[in-house]
Amino acid sequence: MMPTSPYGRLMKPIPLLLLSSFMIISCAQADELGAPQLYLENCASCHGTGPEGGSAPSLFDGVLMHGSNLDSLKANIAYGIDDGGMPGFEGGLTDGQITKLALFIQAGDPPALLKKLEKTPAVKLVGSLADQVTIADYITDVDKPWGFVFLDENTLLITEKDGKLLRVETSGTKTEIKGIPEVKSSGQGGLLDVALDPDYSENGWIYLTFSHGMSGKSMTKLVRGKIEGNQWVNEETLFEAKVQHYVSGGRHFGSRITFDAEGRLYFSIGDRGQKEQAQDIGVPNGKIHRINRDGSIPEDNPFRFKDYPSIYSFGNRNPQGLIMHPGSGVLWSTEHGPKGGDEINVIRSGKNYGWPAISYGRNYNGSELTPYQAKPGMEQPASHWTPSIAACGLDVYTGDLFPDWKGRLLAGSLAYQSLRLIEVNDDQYIGEVEILSDEGRIRDVTTGPDGAIYVALPSKIIRLSPRPD
Ligand code: HEC
Repeated sequence: MMPTSPYGRLMKPIPLLLLSSFMIISCAQADELGAPQLYLENCASCHGTGPEGGSAPSLFDGVLMHGSNLDSLKANIAYGIDDGGMPGFEGGLTDGQITKLALFIQAGDPPALLKKLEKTPAVKLVGSLADQVTIADYITDVDKPWGFVFLDENTLLITEKDGKLLRVETSGTKTEIKGIPEVKSSGQGGLLDVALDPDYSENGWIYLTFSHGMSGKSMTKLVRGKIEGNQWVNEETLFEAKVQHYVSGGRHFGSRITFDAEGRLYFSIGDRGQKEQAQDIGVPNGKIHRINRDGSIPEDNPFRFKDYPSIYSFGNRNPQGLIMHPGSGVLWSTEHGPKGGDEINVIRSGKNYGWPAISYGRNYNGSELTPYQAKPGMEQPASHWTPSIAACGLDVYTGDLFPDWKGRLLAGSLAYQSLRLIEVNDDQYIGEVEILSDEGRIRDVTTGPDGAIYVALPSKIIRLSPRPD
């Protein structure tokens, strides 16, 4: 059934989340809707979504008897077709929306896009379950923690953006690990993510991503090493860009690390502020990469015969959340959009996520970035945040302290200072609620060994546990 309102798609899942206290705190502005949504809301009821049409003829069957050039399409949509039953939308839709729709009708394969879009909610229903959570300071006095992992119940490894790797005991003792690579900390760059090998207890490998500087330029780099005493040892470089692909400036490094069930490693690199390069598989930025843990290339990597055989997906703007869902095996990413159009994506081998050719966002100054929200051959996000939340940090809740939340995603937001609990069903985004707000910009989140939720804020790590009734 075709939903008649954008709320329709989200109506059903809400009882699942048991959110009687839901309220709408953010909803996309009408002119931020993409062409496909505009089509679904205004046109599909008569024209249908496929080549067979509906009560009115299909606009996608190759026959446009009233004209197929942009001007006649716009005129037909704006003024209608007098005696034929086609209403005029001038007044109801803005000029920009009418142009979007006309371009959409001309685009390659609208029915395929509409099909994909049926699972791309444009509107968020966001409520709060923050009253179910108790917040406590866990580790204080850390400086811009970017990533963290638990070595055991009482010990964390924390990266500080400016370049320190700390081992921190819950008693408060902090030890700097000496000998890690020198990082280029400027702008958004620095020491970034840290991850433990899936077989850490046997092999001791620890993985780090960071901004690596070379001749005034920089790029995201990935190494692994071990810790002996307070010393970083046995370092191996697993990914390093070619020198000619280093970029000046301090924007969009990514980067997060996650592993699949077979132990392969995925990591993200942002577009480095060079948006067109996200579409170029000859360069490493604007991509999600996959390697074996020793740096070798998995046999079925989609671009294994190209210059960067580690590339797994492309057209990714700045993914700063990346997690393999242990239940479904679905690889989820969250990525910063420009102004609007932050995305949550299901990452699949060889796919193009469209940046900057398609986007739900606009340029930072509000001007149009692209008229396209969808194109053939490009993936739709599972959902998007417009306005942007500045998505950063992503995990799957796997603990027992909040039994109802098991298997849901935990997504951090820098700009809204909020932590979202996202209901997903396999590769479908269902809906989300806020479980923490106004504590500070959230950089990273993880389920702890004790089942509590740990969140990295600008100068501390806090612990979220259930509030006693
Ligand atoms: C109430 C039903 C209805 C709605 C809603 C509607 N249309 Fe139509 N439209 C029609 C009918 C009927 C025709 C055929 C008119 C004719 O051929 O004389 C038509 C014709 C058209 C044509 C010309 C097709 C051709 O063969 O050249 C275009 C373009 C078009 N519609 C676009 C749209 C768009 C875009 C929307 C949504 C913004 C829309 N229509 C919404 C009923 C509708």
